[in-house]
Amino acid sequence: MPHSSNGLNPALLIARKRDGGALTSSEIGAFIEGYSDGSIPDYQASSLCMAICLRGMNSDEITALTQHMLHSGVTLQWGNAKRPVVDKHSTGGVGDKVSLVLAPLLASVGLAVPMISGRGLGPTGGTLDKLESIPGFRTDLTARQLQEQTQQLGCAISGATHEIAPADQKLYALRDVTGTVPSRALITASILSKKLAEGLGALVLDVKYGSGALMKTERAAVELAECLVTTSAAMGVATTAFVTSMNQPLGTAVGNAIEVEEALDTLRGAGPADLRELTLALGTELMLLSDLASTELQAEATLQDALDSGTALQTFTEMVAAQGGDLARLPRPQQQTNIHSPATGFITRINTEALALAVIELGGGRRLPTDDINHQVGLKILHKVSDHIESGTPLLEIFAPSVAAEIGNQLQTAFTIETCRAERPPLIYRTLRSPAQ
Ligand code: URA
Repeated sequence: MPHSSNGLNPALLIARKRDGGALTSSEIGAFIEGYSDGSIPDYQASSLCMAICLRGMNSDEITALTQHMLHSGVTLQWGNAKRPVVDKHSTGGVGDKVSLVLAPLLASVGLAVPMISGRGLGPTGGTLDKLESIPGFRTDLTARQLQEQTQQLGCAISGATHEIAPADQKLYALRDVTGTVPSRALITASILSKKLAEGLGALVLDVKYGSGALMKTERAAVELAECLVTTSAAMGVATTAFVTSMNQPLGTAVGNAIEVEEALDTLRGAGPADLRELTLALGTELMLLSDLASTELQAEATLQDALDSGTALQTFTEMVAAQGGDLARLPRPQQQTNIHSPATGFITRINTEALALAVIELGGGRRLPTDDINHQVGLKILHKVSDHIESGTPLLEIFAPSVAAEIGNQLQTAFTIETCRAERPPLIYRTLRSPAQ
């Protein structure tokens, strides 16, 4: 039977996991090494991923997988840097532009945020795609550039290069085409290997559930959040996960340039209340975890002041300029079409995924990884769950060169309108902290 370059027999490992057995840290390490150097082929890696999807992994295996994926590339070292190094990760949502506000906000109050972000995943938008709607903005910083800019300005937002957790890049691309993304163990190792390679002292996670999220139910999101917090804490990083609702978009803008505009409004001290509230909650937690504040009240007041005084906006502007972006040329939304309410009543549900898929259909997201994005395409949501609306009044605005009738219909039917008022979904459903905190 063929062995990998380091003497591992992958077929035996796959069979043991298939039968529900546990793998040792050295076996997992040899597997990651063999897959990274090409001596373990894709078909064996995808079999192991499928076995993990079906059988799961225990917490020791998940920690070992995360460790070995993390050490497949470089890790950032901060020596005795003055600023505590922190980051936030979201499992992805519709209209989720928190990173654009939070990274400069935290930098403006004394934290360092070397944020490695992703592109759109499934129907959800990606921070990198949003930032790339700013003409010239570079999202391909090397690990060294990411670190140097963070040291100088307090923050940088860029994509994962081949230097950071390269095993995850290879494995994620394989999982994407083999139906093996939805495994708690694999998702945890994938997210944490990239984030913890940044050399963090503290991490907050926004684990979303609902129609527009990777996790469809509260329960699945809580289970993933528990797994992420336990694994991250086992690796020595103080971690808090917020389980948040994606049963309606966050804020009012969905798209790319239009979301940057909304982030700018929030950085000016305005912006939608839910976006501001979630950003402040995540930021407060990181300030407390980093001992930059001793109470929630104090942390929140500091962050509010940074938003309202324009200091966070100033840091965002500096970050954009440092990464080559020209905010003055941010495309403005054009060609507006309104979608009207078909009935009078209360909005009781919004199919967030349908909104995100419509944006993709309109050209604002990718169907294939190689597709180009029209950054000007987007939606402005005028009403959210629990709002009352009159028949024939606008529900949302579409910004796109042309809107086919079926897309208009898909967007209209994404809103359920009934005679009884529904509760607003809670913004933050649960908060899970690592035990030592
Ligand atoms: N995001 C990641 O980075 N990895 C996953 O596996 C899922 C979401």
